[in-house]
Amino acid sequence: MRAYETRVDLLEVRLDWLRDWTVEDLEFLRDRPVLWTFRPVRQGGEFAGADSERFEVLRQIGRRRLGQWVDVEWDVWPPLIMELRGYFKVLLSYHQYDGHLPPWPDLGELFRAKPHDAVKIALTLHRWADIVRFLDIVEACQAEGWDGVWVVMGPRGTWLRILTPWFGGLWTYASPEGTGRATADGQVSVEELRQVYRYPEMAPDHRIYGLLGDPVAHSVSPYIHNRLFQEVGLAAHYVPFAVDDLEAFLRVMHVLPLGGLSVTVPHKIAILRYLDDVEPAARDIGAVNTVVRREDRWVGANTDWVGFWRPLVRRFGVRSWRALIVGAGGAAHAVAYALRRAGCSFAVTNRTHAKAEALARRFGGTAVPWDAVKPGAFDLLIHTTPLGMAPHIDTLPPIPDAWLVDKVVYDLIYNPPETRLLRRARAVGARAVLSGLPMLAEQAAEQFRLWTLQTVRADDIVALAQAHLERQSETFNIFD
Ligand code: ATR
Repeated sequence: MRAYETRVDLLEVRLDWLRDWTVEDLEFLRDRPVLWTFRPVRQGGEFAGADSERFEVLRQIGRRRLGQWVDVEWDVWPPLIMELRGYFKVLLSYHQYDGHLPPWPDLGELFRAKPHDAVKIALTLHRWADIVRFLDIVEACQAEGWDGVWVVMGPRGTWLRILTPWFGGLWTYASPEGTGRATADGQVSVEELRQVYRYPEMAPDHRIYGLLGDPVAHSVSPYIHNRLFQEVGLAAHYVPFAVDDLEAFLRVMHVLPLGGLSVTVPHKIAILRYLDDVEPAARDIGAVNTVVRREDRWVGANTDWVGFWRPLVRRFGVRSWRALIVGAGGAAHAVAYALRRAGCSFAVTNRTHAKAEALARRFGGTAVPWDAVKPGAFDLLIHTTPLGMAPHIDTLPPIPDAWLVDKVVYDLIYNPPETRLLRRARAVGARAVLSGLPMLAEQAAEQFRLWTLQTVRADDIVALAQAHLERQSETFNIFD
């Protein structure tokens, strides 16, 4: 608590989580900004005793004049709430952990019936359609003149925890770091909220950017783009949007000062129909990984192909490669586009041959069944499947050694920076290996340039991403 008091505005003490304590033990929090929460089991907390006992403790804390706020559940008897209001400001809270969204009339009635200084609504929601309805409830509360704390628990609500100032929330909850775990599902840590998202500096006229995908929780993009915004001095914040429903998502985005989006699996193709313009490369590839808001138009672009191509040129100069693409998904499309554009020839092989054929037809290559691949026919192998990606880092795609010997082997995976495939390629005598990290950096740099017209060095992004991945893997090692 002492370590955190200079870094947060309010310390929430979950009394129901403490063991072996007395009210005297809380004296050290005197004159510190504290919110007391003493959650009973029936409301998702840990306290299994009687309500009378719970309130006697809160009363004793109140008599000692410790803390400013108390969280009181909506089902508490009004005279008890009145009494606590003599000591604290009351945050009247409503929690729901089962994915269910209560109707506004019921919630409104509930909150109107009990005294409070602010309300808290914390719901576990899985669908963006429900998040839209939740934001309507937030507006209804504000129309009643109530201050409030608005929380969507679960990975789909992380963005809202970060962008609290845009929704008039009194505060947001963040977990202490070092535990390796959030104190609630979808929460970010104090350190991330401050250092990565720059929460204390947020203001409603700042621009918002984000990563649209599902899932997005382990992405490095927030660590890259937020740092870049900071380095070039732009008042902008980049957040993860884990989205199941594009239409609902865009309804929310229309009311935010959105500057642009990174787009990833599974929305790269589906986003196309919602855009006002699509740049030619993105149209040719058939996928958008970047959305730029220009005036009131939403423009789609693709920076994956540049991201793929630039590291090759940087390392080997412009060459007329004979390439073998392994895999025929979204990433393979950007690769084939780049190769065709540079006048290189390519063959593609894939588990599902029909998809290799479609890709080959579209970009002018040859589809080859896995068993018919001739190692003499290519000098550059590009691996585009997810096999070997964290957390499945021990997976080796079923690529024979003969495809690796003497070849340039390019694995588009960036986490881990050196996959098992690349280690294998090195061991059997590949001519050179290339990881997906520079590609990630180049596509991010290009994306950043489209949004801001500012040029950043890909090498700096590689360093940022690497540092983050190392931190992340340390956390995994300790806590998984
Ligand atoms: P992305 O957009 O990241 O490229 P994707 O579109 O899902 O992802 O494409 C994944 C590619 O990896 C596909 O070519 C897929 O093969 P299928 O077309 O047969 O689905 C390939 N892939 C995924 N898992 C695979 C596995 N276990 N073995 C072989 N190929 C695999």
